[in-house]
Amino acid sequence: MDKFVIEGGERLQGTVRISGSKNAVLPLLAATILQKGEYRIDNVPRLKDVRTMTRLIALLGGATEWADEHSLKVDTRDLTNHMAPYEIVKEMRASVLVLGSLIGGLRRATVSYPGGCAIGERPIDLHLKGLSALGCDVRLREGYVDVTAKKLKGARIHFDKTTVGGTENVLMAAVVAKGETIIENAAREPEVVDLAHMLKRMGAKIEGEGTEIIKIKGVDQLIPCDYEVIPDRIETGTFLVACGITRGNIEIEGCVPSHIQPIIEKLREVGMDITENGSTIRASMSKKRPNAVDIRTAPYPGFPTDMQAQMMALMSTAKGASAITETIFENRMMHAAELRRMGADIRAVGNTAIVKGIKMLTGARVMATDLRASASLILAGLTAYGTTEVSRIYHIDRGYESIEEKLKGLGAKIERRKDEDLGS
Ligand code: EPZ
Repeated sequence: MDKFVIEGGERLQGTVRISGSKNAVLPLLAATILQKGEYRIDNVPRLKDVRTMTRLIALLGGATEWADEHSLKVDTRDLTNHMAPYEIVKEMRASVLVLGSLIGGLRRATVSYPGGCAIGERPIDLHLKGLSALGCDVRLREGYVDVTAKKLKGARIHFDKTTVGGTENVLMAAVVAKGETIIENAAREPEVVDLAHMLKRMGAKIEGEGTEIIKIKGVDQLIPCDYEVIPDRIETGTFLVACGITRGNIEIEGCVPSHIQPIIEKLREVGMDITENGSTIRASMSKKRPNAVDIRTAPYPGFPTDMQAQMMALMSTAKGASAITETIFENRMMHAAELRRMGADIRAVGNTAIVKGIKMLTGARVMATDLRASASLILAGLTAYGTTEVSRIYHIDRGYESIEEKLKGLGAKIERRKDEDLGS
């Protein structure tokens, strides 16, 4: 296993380019299963989760090949297998996103029932309720969910809880269901909109994507297409926080400012100067100490839960006290304990953490527990006095492309090393 060794204290300066979105590319790759054919997906980030999804497509009978550094050719002409095995799903729960496309493409899906993960139980009851409403027969057996659909028919589906994956799975099955489907309380995330745009390019009839009511008119035939993945809004937010926590001055290229308004607004409250210019953002903290602000996560367009851990690191060195409330996942505060080991003054009670900013964190050996917690610990290490070692960074490799190279490009002192203490 690898670790990051970080020497804190460098103010980040310079330019960084954002990669394609992890949470967009995974459903887009799943969508290639909907219609047998040849696809080309551009702006694909080189991530562990993308490799896992390409392995899953191969297991289903498809084939993938890198056309260049960030372009993936996907061939699903020989897709025949409808089973996503335990070995893959336990590695990446987003594998459940093939449920909807297997149903839409093969009318059959057998997917290992995803267990919980570090941040919460993360059930898929709403996904299955939506697919059942479309006429699917859903059975749970031996740890697998087995879904068959003799006839897919449109339905009115109301999600009593906003679910990104549930909206995406229902969307992918509904596009070929007979008649109209209405999804109420649909997720509005840009990644859901990106999937809808690819499906429309494949000939699907969808309207209302990006709002809480999505209407789909089923079609008989879809066609394969080429598509470009949107930039990663959470990576963009993470680099903005890196600028804030090191009181630096950076330029972020290849992003979509309109996807991160809640983050920009919060960081302006923190005292960061942020100017947007097309797909470029200039951010400067001009050596000022951040102001404390309160954070409450919410479904898009609220403040994203995937940015909560990063903001907790920033608030650890802010002027004043902040209350951070996590409303999406039941166990997404594990980074608090690790930040405390760096001197942070954080009291987490239930899903709210009270963070009292201190002048300076101190470097320590800390352990990543999940993807965004890893980012939070790296950010803390960038500003902490002395050396910080972040172990188990396989978590970070799932969702950030070459993060240490990008941070080095901004002047950070960060190295990837073998972690002898934890074995190879
Ligand atoms: C997506 O997960 C993202 N992952 C997550 O990003 C993100 O945190 C999450 O949306 C919320 O924005 C991908 O897109 C691959 P949900 P997803 O269904 O779809 C509950 C990251 O760090 N729920 O919107 O799994 C669920 O337990 C990851 O990049 C049910 O109860 O999230 C959670 O509390 C982490 N029943 C809440 O809803 C269901 O059937 C939101 O989950 C489905 C969800």
